Amino acid sequence: MYGSFLCNKGSYMPKINYITADGERHEIQVDQGYTVMEGAVNNDIDGIPAECGGACACATCHAYVDQEWLPKLPAMDDMEDSMLDAAYERRDNSRLTCQIEVTNELDGLIVHIAENEC
Ligand code: FES
Repeated sequence: MYGSFLCNKGSYMPKINYITADGERHEIQVDQGYTVMEGAVNNDIDGIPAECGGACACATCHAYVDQEWLPKLPAMDDMEDSMLDAAYERRDNSRLTCQIEVTNELDGLIVHIAENEC
């Protein structure tokens, strides 16, 4: 189980676990309200170029969500679904990390970063 950090504002900063395509694991505290993509970009995690800046228009923030976390994520909308069709090696646990907002409920989330190309 993963813990949380109590920040100065008195709110918890959930931890997101990013696993890069070459197997490196990074446990990063991300403020609620940011997206999982922003947590990676702001912390220089390799493999998420996020070319469109989070507009759901590039699929370069593609990741595979650990199976146990899939039911806890917000539902995928049609736009994300169709954009994922353009992603390299889409799988049943594929998501666009720019479409996942970090919340306390996602403390400990594990995402495996896909082979994202610019
Ligand atoms: S950053 Fe472009 S689709 Fe997510």
